[in-house]
Amino acid sequence: MDSIVVKGGAALSGVIPIAGAKNAALTLMPATLLTDEPLTLTNVPRLSDIKTTNELLSSLGTEVAVMQDGQIIVLDTAEITNHTAHYDIVRKMRASILVLGPMLARDGHAIVSLPGGCAIGARPVDMHLKGLEAMGAKIELKEGYIHATAPSGLKGATYELPFASVGATENILMAATLAKGTTVLKNAAREPEIVDLADCLIKMGAQIEGAGSSTITIQGVDKLHGATHPVVTDRIELGTYMLAPVIAGGEVELLGGRIDLLEAFCEKLDAAGVSIQETKRGLKVSRRSDLTKAVDVTTEPFPGFPTDLQAQMMAMLCTARGSSTLKETIFENRFMHAPELIRMGANIDVQGGVATVTGVDKLKGAPVMATDLRASVSLILAGLAAEGETIVSRVYHLDRGYERLEEKLMACGASIERVTA
Ligand code: UD1
Repeated sequence: MDSIVVKGGAALSGVIPIAGAKNAALTLMPATLLTDEPLTLTNVPRLSDIKTTNELLSSLGTEVAVMQDGQIIVLDTAEITNHTAHYDIVRKMRASILVLGPMLARDGHAIVSLPGGCAIGARPVDMHLKGLEAMGAKIELKEGYIHATAPSGLKGATYELPFASVGATENILMAATLAKGTTVLKNAAREPEIVDLADCLIKMGAQIEGAGSSTITIQGVDKLHGATHPVVTDRIELGTYMLAPVIAGGEVELLGGRIDLLEAFCEKLDAAGVSIQETKRGLKVSRRSDLTKAVDVTTEPFPGFPTDLQAQMMAMLCTARGSSTLKETIFENRFMHAPELIRMGANIDVQGGVATVTGVDKLKGAPVMATDLRASVSLILAGLAAEGETIVSRVYHLDRGYERLEEKLMACGASIERVTA
């Protein structure tokens, strides 16, 4: 199994290009199931989760053509030839559940395994199913599989999500594009990836209003057609690399970076003593003085502070002056990086959903274990400034969400290498 070895101490200087968003691509790709014409996606990130989605879609009958080293993908689902998404693929990636709504909307039936994915909480899919039921779907759970049918098609409905779930919003939004009549989705998630999905669906002929707000209205149409769509910038990759020069020192320019994708995060960085400058090409980031300051953070749905940047922020706060609290409100089990950071000398106390981080002068390199996607990158960030060598094992988590991480950091002067066992 691969591991990544980071030698701390080098200040960073250079330019990092930010890829297309994993979480946008993972919902744009299943949109192919809504049409018999080709859907072309550009600016696709090169990640193992994308390969898994290609595999999943191929198993359902999609012809997948990968071009430009993976940055362009053409998905052609002339016909869905198999309506079962098997456990073998779905267990690798929770976002696989996003094939349910489109298959059901197009053909009136779908069977999808209950998902697996990162071990960061129970993560049920009840809201996805309730939304589809509100549109007339019949759902049964049998032997670990969701059996969904809508023999006479889905019908538009008004549904209010109990919580602004990203995945449930995406699944219901895609299904509603082909439902008969109008669907009003209330308390919808407002993440930029949802706006990106709606933009793509509109190019495909869907009638959608309000994406990016809490109420999305979808007027169902008989048919969608092909389209070409560039995947929006990955705001989580952006935020992760913004923290690299804050932790290690130096200055890095993030190509394609935009503050509007990460306002709550940028406000916290500003309060911690970080300089963020908008340039023609993106954002330039450095710390204003040698020491950053403690800040309190609460994770929230967009436009709040993203849960997907909580672990990386914790890595930064480990050496900030003073005590910070990090409150996790989205996932109940998302502090698995804390014990690993403590192994590196951090002072962190976790009580339920709140972690208190008291800054120490320096972290020390140690062998540590990646437990989920964002936790693994937080350990690499911590390693950039730690004394000595940090060896992060189980990096397959990292490959799900960060393309060419070593290359990008090395180009800025970091001492980092992948070791294949
Ligand atoms: C998406 C992102 C993930 C991010 C998360 C929150 C993708 C592929 N993944 O995940 O990186 O961390 O948004 O910003 O886009 N829940 C239920 N029932 C449901 C659905 C969700 O109880 O039917 C709960 C979940 O367990 C979790 C919370 O709602 O506690 C948020 O989940 P959700 O917004 O759905 O996240 P995902 O779409 O899984």
